[in-house]
Parts: sequence; C-alpha cells; structure tokens
Amino acid sequence: MLLHAPRAARVRSAAPTPLGLADLSTLTSSIAAQVRTGAHDVVLDPDRRWYRRLYADPFVDVWLISWATEQATELHDHAGSLGALTVVSGELQEQRWVAEQGLRTRRLRAGKGATFALGHVHDVVNTEPAHAVSVHAYSPPLTAMSYYAVDPTGDLRRTRTVLTTGGEA
Ligand SMILES: [Fe+2]
Repeated sequence: MLLHAPRAARVRSAAPTPLGLADLSTLTSSIAAQVRTGAHDVVLDPDRRWYRRLYADPFVDVWLISWATEQATELHDHAGSLGALTVVSGELQEQRWVAEQGLRTRRLRAGKGATFALGHVHDVVNTEPAHAVSVHAYSPPLTAMSYYAVDPTGDLRRTRTVLTTGGEA
C-alpha cells in the first residue's frame, strides 16, 4: 500500500489539461491588456455580477467579468479546473482558504492576478467604491463548482455543488 501513496498524490495534483497555471496567467494577462485597449465591451450591472465568455476551445475558456461595489462570488472551488485571473481595472479582494490557517485575504490591484491550483477555495469581492473588471481563464473549461462555509469550529465545510456554464471568479 505504501508504494501506491506517492502515485495517488501525483495524480491528484495534476489536472487533465495541457495548460498549466503559468500558461493561464499569461493568457489572462494578455487578454486583460486587450480589454484595456477597448477591444471588448464591458457592461456594469449594479444588480448582479456581469460576465461574458470571450473565448472557448476544448482546453480552455476565458471570461470577462465586471464587479460593482460589494458584488462577490461566495467561497467556492473550480472542481477539476485550473484557473487564473488578471484584474483589468479597479481592485478586487480575494479571501482564500489556507490549510491550518483559515481564510487569508489579499488585494488584487489592476494588472495583478492570481492562479488557482486544484483545490483552491476562495471568495472574490469588490469592496471598493469604483467598479472592477477582470479576466478569468479555466482549463479544462469550467463545468462545476462547489461552495463552502466556514463552520463555528473554523473548519471548511462544503455546502453544495453546482454544474455551471456561466462565468465565475
Ligand atoms: Fe473562483
């Protein structure tokens, strides 16, 4: 049994995609630069987070998302997809779950981004008065997400899993 443990760990660490986190980060950064030139229309919807798929192929999909103040995602993962985001304009706050530490907060300013390895659980929110715009990529294309809550003992609990065909964060 011991011989099987390292192999299982390697399998869990790799997604079934030819694209890695660095590739996705390069992709979102490149498309964010396109968005800054005005190449893509961006809609700001004060009632719900707006998103549009900019690109999709069998290996990756790319989403443009706008965030009014206080619009957020809830704590979630990206199922079997790797991901990356780049902030086009404005500023986003990410709370990500870190084992043994709990939720850690970081600010993502325009031009900055984050990558999502398998198992990355986070909530993204615009806490600023100005709206924010970001570009997200997932590989394989995002098909499901699980949502989580932190219970009173400080543990992370999965609350539901949904199939998705829409953009997220
Ligand atoms: Fe996300």
